Order: sequence, then structure tokens, then C-alpha cells
Amino acid sequence: MVPELSASILPDSAACQTGRLTLGGCDLGELAAQYGTPLYIYDRPTLWGQAQRARRAFAPLRARVSFAAKACSTPGVLRIFRDAGLALDAVSAGELEAARRADFEPAAIHLHGNAKSAAELKLAVHLGLHAVVVDNRDELERLEEVCRTTGQRTSVMVRIAPSLEPDTHPHLQTAGKRSKFGVSGASEEGEAIFRHLQASPVLHLIGLHAHVGSQIKDVSVYAQVAQELVTLAKALRRFDLAPTEISLGGGWAVAYRDGDPEVTPDQVAASIGPAFAGTGLRPAVEPGRWLTARAGLALYQVEAVKRVDGRRLVAVDGGMGDNPRPALYGARYTALLPDRVDAPPTGPADVVGRYCEAGDVLVQAVALPEVKRGDLVGVPVSGAYQISMASSYNLVPPPAVVLVEAGRSHLLTRRPTAADLLAWEILPHQAERRGPEVFRGGGVR
Ligand SMILES: Cc1ncc(COP(=O)(O)O)c(C=O)c1O
Repeated sequence: MVPELSASILPDSAACQTGRLTLGGCDLGELAAQYGTPLYIYDRPTLWGQAQRARRAFAPLRARVSFAAKACSTPGVLRIFRDAGLALDAVSAGELEAARRADFEPAAIHLHGNAKSAAELKLAVHLGLHAVVVDNRDELERLEEVCRTTGQRTSVMVRIAPSLEPDTHPHLQTAGKRSKFGVSGASEEGEAIFRHLQASPVLHLIGLHAHVGSQIKDVSVYAQVAQELVTLAKALRRFDLAPTEISLGGGWAVAYRDGDPEVTPDQVAASIGPAFAGTGLRPAVEPGRWLTARAGLALYQVEAVKRVDGRRLVAVDGGMGDNPRPALYGARYTALLPDRVDAPPTGPADVVGRYCEAGDVLVQAVALPEVKRGDLVGVPVSGAYQISMASSYNLVPPPAVVLVEAGRSHLLTRRPTAADLLAWEILPHQAERRGPEVFRGGGVR
């Protein structure tokens, strides 16, 4: 195994051969030479294994297990989860298109979002998704209108903001009285939504939904939310409504560094089981991070090393453009040198990104051996909310993504060029002079 780093933060296929880290039987130095850096490497056996672990854990509860596409919306990754038998939680027309490319059946997809556009609602109705998860009254009215106009019926779930406020970073917390997501079951808005559903000939309430936040470390939170939603589902009889599915969202904590707490699907299943016993209600879960985080490793090249006020700064060719999480949530990672994972550390270093922001620090105070320009640096547990949140800030192209397995690598995302990033930009005089041509390119009108 890999010295100094525990298997709990590396992909399942990670191995160490003569001091060099391999993933899926591929040498990281060779991957960097072939695809360039920064490079995101996903381990197929880990993605597949996590999906199977989640399915096995919830099989006794007959739960619907979906992948929250927002964690990693790369079609090549979605395809693996489709083949593994997961359903899908999408949050935009873009994610629905990624799901289509990954060959997900519409009936296996539900659509979330607190501000869905009319076009997204139309698309959801047209596709015949498993459900539209309705966030608010405005959306419900809009959805009703779409269905009446098209003559179609649609299944809906209602997003509930449970009363408890779990302990996590405030930006990752999505429950409680002040949440921008969903409605409280007991609120005026909630009542109005259920009354509307009672009277609607085109909207069919199939379930209730909650997602209380991410990186939830206390598994008893799920038992409490399950109980709250099961109670609410029963109370809806007074509106002649009989939802059958109760989704508890995702949010299972993963370890980013050795020793960080993690929540497993078995623990979540054990926690929610009692609330459902004898109710006839079907549970649903939609983890994102837990399914992809550990499967991914970000690989960077060192551009410069310097000492500043006693700190060793290792500047790499990526940063907040491919991983905004440290800046957004104060997320803490570790780092390793894949070419010499067994070299003894010489002291702490901060791995800083290349972007023009003081907050662009990828990894703080990590024990590293001597590092020099041209070395590779790997950041484990990079498979969730990094590539899907990547930007082209500073007009730096986001990374390529490869999938590894059994000694082979497959390109899933080509690295865009600077020209790709500028392809939709139009200078004012070009628009005037070459109007028709530009219009033909699409997107201007
Ligand atoms: C509605 C919903 N479901 C599921 C998830 C997935 O959460 P996680 O990736 O923490 O499991 C999210 C994440 O924000 C979400 O908003």
C-alpha cells in the first residue's frame, strides 16, 4: 500500500510501485506526460464499488438510490452510475443533457432546483421524468400551467425544509427556518402548495423530499429527518394526498484527510430504517460526494517553490479554477508527491494555486518532502464538486479528465483551449460588421 497515506482517502486501485503511485494500474507520471496537467483522474473500480455499496446498503429498505449529478456531471462518470443501476438527481437542463448523453432513462431522473426556469419545467414535463421536486408555490403554478398547456400530467415531490439545523459549514447547510431551499411543512407556503396539489388534475404528488446539507457527520440527523417527513406524509391525508416516497437527500460526510470522520451508507440505512418500518412508504437517498469524492485525484505540476515569511509555498498549475472548495468552504485537503510517495517529509508546505486571488490556497500546512519545479503533486479526494464547479477564471482552461482501470486510461473530458474559452465572445464591431454570420453561430438572438 501507499506509505504515509491511508487507503481511506485514496481510490480502491491505488498502489505503490518502487515509490511511485499508480491508479488503475496507470503510472501518474505517464498520465501527466500523455494528457498534461492539471489532470483529474477518476478510478473506475472505486466509482463502481461505491455505487454497489450504496445499493447493497439500501436494498433491504427497497430504497431508490440516486446519484446527485451536481457532484460530478461528467457524462462518462454518469454512464458508470447508470450501468451500476443508480437513478439520477439532476438540477438543470444542462445536467439533463449530460444524463441523456449517459443514456439515463427519463423515468430514472428527478429534477431539483429552487429557481427552475420555465424552459426547464417544460423539458421535465416533456421528458416524463420520475418527478419534479417542487421548491415553492410560484414554481408549482408554473408547472401547472405547463401541464395544462401541453395536456400532460407530471409527478411531483415537494421539497421540505426540515426544522433541524445540522452541524456543518453554514454554506453547506440547507435546512432550518432560514433555508432558501424548500418550504416548511407547517408554513403558509407549505399549506398553499398542498392545497394546490389537492385540487390539481395534472400534478400528482408522489413524495416528499429533504436534503439538509452536505458533509453531515452525525448520522442520527437522518433518523430525525426521516421521522419528520414520515409524520408529515401521514398528516397530508387531510388534503387527500398520499405520497409514497420519502427522499432524505444526500450529504454523507467523506474523509478528505486521514482520520477525518466519514458516514457510510450502512449507517444511514440503519439510522432511517425504524422511521419507515410498517409505514408502506419507500425511502430514497441521493448521495453525490460519497459516490465520487474518493474516486478522483487531482494531479498538478509544480511551477515554482519559494519561502515567504518562513512558509514553504509550492505553486502549482491549477487551483481555485478547478477546485474552489477551499475558498468557498474552507475545505481542508492533503497532498502527496506521486513520484516518491515514500520519501520522508522535510516540513510543512502550503500548496497554492495559480489564480490571481489571495484565497487560492489548495492545501494548507501539509507535510511534504523536498519539492522542486516540475514535480507532480497529487491531491486525493478530488472527485466531487471540483470538476463540476470548475471555472475558466483568468481564462485558464479547466483540466482534462481521465478514467483509469486495469492499466488503461480513457479521456472523458478534453481540456479546452484558450480559443474554446473565447469561442462565444463577440467584439462590438464584429457584431455590427459581420452580423448575419455571427447570428448564424447561434446564441446572439
Ligand atoms: C438536493 C440535493 N440532493 C443531494 C445533494 C448531494 O449532497 P452530497 O454531495 O453532499 O451527498 C445535494 C447537494 O448539494 C443537494 O442539493
